[in-house]
Amino acid sequence: MSKVTVIGAGNVGATCANVLVTEGIADDVVLLDIKEGVSEGKAMDIMQSANILGLDSRLKGVTNDYAATADSDVVVITSGIPRKPGMTREELIGVNAGIVKSVTENVLKYSPKAVIICVSNPMDTMTYLIHKTSGLPKNKIIGMGGALDSARFRYFLSQAMGANYNDVDGFVIGGHGDTTMIPMTRFAVNRGVPAAEILDAETLAKVAADTMVGGATLTGLLGTSAWYAPGAAAASVVKAIVSDSKSMITCSALLDGEYGEKDLCIGVPCILGRNGIESIVEYKLNEEEAALFAKSAKAVHTTNAALPC
Ligand code: NAI
Ligand code: 2OP
Repeated sequence: MSKVTVIGAGNVGATCANVLVTEGIADDVVLLDIKEGVSEGKAMDIMQSANILGLDSRLKGVTNDYAATADSDVVVITSGIPRKPGMTREELIGVNAGIVKSVTENVLKYSPKAVIICVSNPMDTMTYLIHKTSGLPKNKIIGMGGALDSARFRYFLSQAMGANYNDVDGFVIGGHGDTTMIPMTRFAVNRGVPAAEILDAETLAKVAADTMVGGATLTGLLGTSAWYAPGAAAASVVKAIVSDSKSMITCSALLDGEYGEKDLCIGVPCILGRNGIESIVEYKLNEEEAALFAKSAKAVHTTNAALPC
């Protein structure tokens, strides 16, 4: 039996809740928002598809009723404002820090043992804020960004290669920002064949560049940030935890010496299971990758310094 709460019934939160119930990832899902009626309405709409789709999971929408979230195994925080065209994720810090801090306090009153997944942007800094203010052990706080960025990387790789999405593998590390993420082209493969043997250097560089601005491209097209892949990516992190899968997904984790960094949440490959982040996988970076990671870490430190607490 697993219970998952999603805070924020906006685009990303509602999509995440929808994936959680349609894929049967959690038995009980609670969707909470401050806006009167929104989460109740979205939950009712989703559950009216239960009979059509043959679903077994239950989804309940509530307005600010944290008692309904009690004893959740996992809580996904998506509350906060998204970016508009031309904005960076970092510009959201002032508003979202206050929301994420107060939401975390309320969540922990009712679910002190939950694993928390932070989605709200700027995600690495919001994840760090939760570490600083919650007192939770570091394995229980996970930032979701790398799961999405890696999915975007695989999408652009498969497009460039003309390959099936599921035959392509690749991952992204570093900060969840247009200039801070690092698509790991050296490790990208199509059924074991290195991407560098399939694509010329210019095409591979374009795949990496398109990945890095993947979120901004969608924000430009949609007028707000994306939600289908972000919601599904958050649900995939929940799935790895509740199913104790031990699968490797890039997540924003608190580093204590790994990759040469300390006191920082940033995207690194993590093994996920029932305890949250069960371990961090340390790839041996080459000189260029290590320099990019150090630069990315510096940028995230700078954003963290703007936190109001
Ligand atoms: P949205 O505006 O559609 O939804 C946000 C929801 O949060 C709204 O329904 C709002 O009422 C609710 N909310 C605000 N304050 C709240 C509070 N104190 N308690 C409960 N609910 C509250 O925004 P969207 O598109 O769903 O994005 C949510 C966040 O996720 C944004 O910060 C966005 O930048 C971020 N994001 C992060 C991604 C990632 O990969 N980490 C990907 C996509 C979005
Ligand atoms: C995204 O990557 C803006 O973080 C959001 O779509």
